[in-house]
Amino acid sequence: MKSLAIFASGRGSNAQNIIRYFRQSKSIRIRLIVSSHEKAGVLDIARNEGIPSLVLDKKEYYGSGESLVKSLTDYQIDGIVLAGFLWLVPTYLIENYPHAIINIHPALLPKYGGKGMYGMHVHEAVWKNKENHTGITIHEVNERYDEGKTLFQATCPLSPQDLPEEIARKVHELEYAHYPRVIEEYFNSQ
Ligand code: GAR
Repeated sequence: MKSLAIFASGRGSNAQNIIRYFRQSKSIRIRLIVSSHEKAGVLDIARNEGIPSLVLDKKEYYGSGESLVKSLTDYQIDGIVLAGFLWLVPTYLIENYPHAIINIHPALLPKYGGKGMYGMHVHEAVWKNKENHTGITIHEVNERYDEGKTLFQATCPLSPQDLPEEIARKVHELEYAHYPRVIEEYFNSQ
């Protein structure tokens, strides 16, 4: 059995979907929710699901990270799944979890990636450029935003009438359909 932590900064609809997917799993257990924001919706999800959670202290996180690493060790976390987590992952985490941190990005990297490219900012940029398709990228995490090895991509067509909200809806559908299964395959093959 592998124990995973989900890191999320926002409402946590992907986190909810992942938790649901693994509820009965015999190989993967969602053991901890970590959030960068004390008001994040994902913390309500953790409470409702009876999953322990913690809120990061920014200084500590970008500093030694000692208390975060201790918590991850205490909960015997084997891997980390980012689901709408906005802070850069520091070197100490990558060193503690080599090839065991993955992220989902709401576009087809390397397009629409990098610092500041998250959530609706991505969908607005895709819309402004009149793209006729977009998609998702699931990738390993390294020290730079959105640059780790790509594990999986899926695309969806866009029509000229699709506003950023509709683009976001289509991308979320892809995320819900694929992220849990890719997490399962990735961590079960290690
Ligand atoms: C998701 O679309 C995820 O791909 C995106 O944030 C959203 C979180 O939604 N992540 C990024 O933009 C990271 N650069 P959620 O809180 O409802 O799961």
